[in-house]
Amino acid sequence: MATKNKLKVLGFAGSLRRGSYNKALLRAAADLLPEDMNLEIFDIEGITPFNQDIEENMPLKVKEFKAKIREADAILIATPEYNYSVPGVLKNAIDWASRPYGDNAFEGKPAAIMSASVGMLGGARAQYHLRQIFVFLNMYPINGPEVILSFSQDKFDANGKLTDENTKKFLRHLLQNLADWTRRLRK
Ligand SMILES: Cc1cc2nc3c(=O)[nH]c(=O)nc-3n(C[C@H](O)[C@H](O)[C@H](O)COP(=O)(O)O)c2cc1C
Repeated sequence: MATKNKLKVLGFAGSLRRGSYNKALLRAAADLLPEDMNLEIFDIEGITPFNQDIEENMPLKVKEFKAKIREADAILIATPEYNYSVPGVLKNAIDWASRPYGDNAFEGKPAAIMSASVGMLGGARAQYHLRQIFVFLNMYPINGPEVILSFSQDKFDANGKLTDENTKKFLRHLLQNLADWTRRLRK
């Protein structure tokens, strides 16, 4: 399919860690995309703590993030769960991109969520908190499949490559559903 007709998806992870399983999950997604989809991965590292005093004159990195979100047809977030919720760095990046009031870059965007955790519940609780945040952002997340990667330390090789075939299957399905949903919302 010609590149210009492909859906543009912007992906970002809620972890800054170099060896992050969630970053690795995004890289795995890039290898499993449907034919009509492109994925660009944005690193939220370097986004300063939100300060409303400077929201009208936001840092360059935030401007870049907002522009990438606006250019994208859909959003893909891979996040860890920190203390039963979304990591502060992810919430911070989202808060920046939603401001100033009336200039929310996420407005109306379709989205898909996935999570990876070393724990048994795979970050599920963070996913539901993220869904709640999407309500005020007026985003349209797909409901399934829920890609919830538990015991992630067992599912990647030493180079951070996803080795678990079942996860690959769910990931493919999630990406296909995101493509279908994005095209459906456009109609
Ligand atoms: C501050 C902190 C809080 C955490 N809280 C949770 C938690 O509530 N639930 C969970 O499943 N894992 C929790 N973890 C473990 C993470 O799942 C694990 O560190 C994971 O590898 C983080 O994702 P990453 O590999 O993408 O950085 C926590 C880790 C940190 C550093």
